[in-house]
Amino acid sequence: MSRKKVIAGNWKMNKTPSETSIFITELSDRVKQTKDIVICAVPYVCLTAALKSAKRTKIKIAAQNLHFEDNGAFTGEVSTDMLTDLGVKYVIVGHSERRQYYNETDATVNKKILKALKAGLKPILCVGESLDQREMGVTSDFVRYQVRYALNGVSSEDMKNVIIAYEPIWAIGTGKTATNEQANDVCKTIRETLVELYGRRVANAALIQYGGSVNVKNANELFNMSDIDGGLVGGASLKIDDFDKIVNYNK
Ligand code: 13P
Repeated sequence: MSRKKVIAGNWKMNKTPSETSIFITELSDRVKQTKDIVICAVPYVCLTAALKSAKRTKIKIAAQNLHFEDNGAFTGEVSTDMLTDLGVKYVIVGHSERRQYYNETDATVNKKILKALKAGLKPILCVGESLDQREMGVTSDFVRYQVRYALNGVSSEDMKNVIIAYEPIWAIGTGKTATNEQANDVCKTIRETLVELYGRRVANAALIQYGGSVNVKNANELFNMSDIDGGLVGGASLKIDDFDKIVNYNK
């Protein structure tokens, strides 16, 4: 079956609101022809600028995190109501950097996925193994576990709004990309996990991205693999010419 591709830039802690406006305006010109879904996940303080510049363009705007409670004494956190009130439609959940540096656990990832879906936000769920886990040969088991845990309580109907990003931790920001086959194999494993959870129809329709040192040179081959439906791009999404080429990978 043919699925759409979704190409998302995860800016992480980069760019100011002013830089955001310039970048999104420039990018909107360069993505006019694409049939794929193009998303920029910007820092919270850049959301307003990004949404303004992305209005009436092909670009969708994502937040990089959310809190699973409605409101309360959680200094520094941001709720779903705050995001949806701005007009945000997508949100990254469970990025490995949040799992590593900010105590994000499988349990909080699950709570955030459920909260995002309830609020009408489309989560981009990140999963992926460490180098140790790959070398121990537990990649497949580990990623299956992460996916099952994160999606606990998510209905088949809601799966239409979930994007999964397979991001091996050892490939993030290291310049070491997974080979096309390694990346595709794990994306396939994720799809098989979805078959077990939701059946073939839902699994075949699910969008599963690869992330980890995606660049201008490897995007085309990666995105043309059977089970890879686009990419979650870090470093290369910050440079307009590179991200333009990645989004237009098939030209
Ligand atoms: P890099 O593309 O910089 O390796 O980052 C990948 C990533 O973490 C995207 O979420």
